[in-house]
Amino acid sequence: GILSTREILKKAQNEGYAVPAFNIHNLETLQAVVETAGELKSPVILAGTPSTLVYAGGDYIVSMAEVASKKYDIPIAIHLDHYEDVSEIKNYIDLGFKSAMIDASHLSYEDNIETVKEVVEYAHRFDATVEAELGRLCGQEDDLIVDEKDTVYTNPKQAKDFVDRTGIDSLAISIGTSHGLYKGEAKLDFDRLVEIKKSVDVPLVLHGASDIPDELVKKSISLGICKVNIATDLKIPFSDSLKEYFIENPQANDPRKYMAPAKNSMKKIVAHKIYVCGSNNRY
Ligand code: 13P
Ligand code: ZN
Ligand code: NA
Repeated sequence: GILSTREILKKAQNEGYAVPAFNIHNLETLQAVVETAGELKSPVILAGTPSTLVYAGGDYIVSMAEVASKKYDIPIAIHLDHYEDVSEIKNYIDLGFKSAMIDASHLSYEDNIETVKEVVEYAHRFDATVEAELGRLCGQEDDLIVDEKDTVYTNPKQAKDFVDRTGIDSLAISIGTSHGLYKGEAKLDFDRLVEIKKSVDVPLVLHGASDIPDELVKKSISLGICKVNIATDLKIPFSDSLKEYFIENPQANDPRKYMAPAKNSMKKIVAHKIYVCGSNNRY
């Protein structure tokens, strides 16, 4: 069945790898992720943003993930990604989601804590896990757009207070990654990551992992990152393959034909990211 992220992130933390969280949008992208994770025996988190769940239907996502969890002998979690609305999170937990990110990082510190606490209290009654963000990434994640000047790095001392007072299960941190593609070169503040890791026990989450050199992602995992969020790096090969297919076959109209290369090129990147996370052959 569908799992929370509690056990899979604890195991990753204990063994020093990261669980990839892939943003999916429909049947084909979900299949590309779970087929690859199944082949590589990797735990996997299927993430959906608010607009994705409106687009695809949260109930469809739950059902497809349930099918996948029977088909493949790996742990599968479905995760609410970047939710700002507490009541929406509660509704999706009622529908079967067991993992949620409450993104209240745009609020004041005290309001962030109050909002997160309300989600934690509700989620834990249903054995669902909660991720929250301290600090703020810039860039674009679906409809969420944050300007570069509004970036805030995570304060390590505040992180401990935040985790203690909210009771969250995992912490999303801001150390220099951004959502989507980079304008310049990615620079990660590893010293800050080390300090955060020293001050909190919960698994740490790296958002915005697309368009970051593999070596930097691997280094952040070696320093304590247990969940790596990937969206853009999967969207690009999928849509590029579709474009190529229609350029070569302008008369094409059979989804079974034109979706196949898109899925395959996405699967290759999913596999690559699983190796970067070191999550293969863990189950
Ligand atoms: P990227 O699009 O940069 O991979 O960011 C994904 C993300 O953080 C999802 O929450
Ligand atoms: Zn994110
Ligand atoms: Na990114």
